[in-house]
Amino acid sequence: MKDFQTQDDLYLLVDAFYKKLLADNSISYIFTDVVKIKLEAHLPILVTFWSQAILGTGGYTKNLTQIHLDVNAKSYLSPELFAIWLRHFYNTVDENFKGEKAEQIKTQALSIGTIMQVKIKNERS
Ligand code: HEM
Repeated sequence: MKDFQTQDDLYLLVDAFYKKLLADNSISYIFTDVVKIKLEAHLPILVTFWSQAILGTGGYTKNLTQIHLDVNAKSYLSPELFAIWLRHFYNTVDENFKGEKAEQIKTQALSIGTIMQVKIKNERS
């Protein structure tokens, strides 16, 4: 199994990851009902984001935490939902990639997810 090298690798990852998210009823409603994402527009944005994070390219300029606070304002993003999201993310990485960047992308997802959850918690208190 190889490590992440190109944006095509990241496209493979996010495509397989969203197939898992959308096939899981416990989280899919966020992407189909709360926010009606259009996959063909959404997946390239995810590739740009992860490419900046682990391949060192630029190009992602939006406030990712604020985007998720906005989703949370429409429908609560609970710790359980974050755990489900992260589990699918880790599994998709591990099923397809192995190496330093594969470890790095999982660590980054965990730390970003942790920051999002702290901000969500602060908004509720
Ligand atoms: C409970 C967990 C999560 C849920 C349910 C969730 C859901 C969503 C939804 C519905 C959108 C589309 C928002 C919109 O277009 O208005 C989105 C965008 C996005 N999410 Fe998440 N998310 C979660 C966690 C995360 C985490 C932990 C990361 C990164 C480590 C992440 C990365 C992204 C990225 C890069 C986008 C694209 C933002 C953009 O359009 O610029 N998400 N997410």
